[in-house]
Amino acid sequence: MNPTTLEADSGEMAIRNEADIVLARQQVRRLTQALKFSLVDQTKMITAASELSRNTLIYGGGGEMVWKLLQQGVRSGLQLAFVDQGPGIPDLDLALKDGWTSGNGMGMGLSGSKRLVNDFQLETEPGKGTRVTITRWK
Ligand SMILES: Nc1ncnc2c1ncn2[C@@H]1O[C@H](COP(=O)(O)OP(=O)(O)O)[C@@H](O)[C@H]1O
Ligand SMILES: [Mg+2]
Repeated sequence: MNPTTLEADSGEMAIRNEADIVLARQQVRRLTQALKFSLVDQTKMITAASELSRNTLIYGGGGEMVWKLLQQGVRSGLQLAFVDQGPGIPDLDLALKDGWTSGNGMGMGLSGSKRLVNDFQLETEPGKGTRVTITRWK
């Protein structure tokens, strides 16, 4: 199942600072290249990872990116989960609206990421944390 250039089919990386976001982006580039995603699809996944890891850092107070290579028949894909134990998201519909931000952002991170991937799952509980899981198939 593994592309030969990858030694594992899942892993996790800490998201604790801006440098970790750069590392997470690099890892997603490496994974999507190993899966032979088109350049456009590589960029979609990297952009989504960038937005979601920044949310993990800024709003979630830090956390992890958990990555997993998927295989379904002849289809291969990449799943990324951005996990934190932060305050959670009180109003999901609002958070997913284009242009809505509780901070100083553009409010396009969640809604934009959702459009860039094939599957988008958001689990959140006030006071417990947030997990955003995205999947893109080749
Ligand atoms: N991991 C998270 N923990 C808590 N709140 C979050 C998290 N991710 C997103 N949010 C909330 O959802 C809003 C929208 O996120 P997003 O679309 O990325 O826009 P922006 O980052 O520009 O604010 C954020 O302003 C924040 O209130
Ligand atoms: Mg954001």
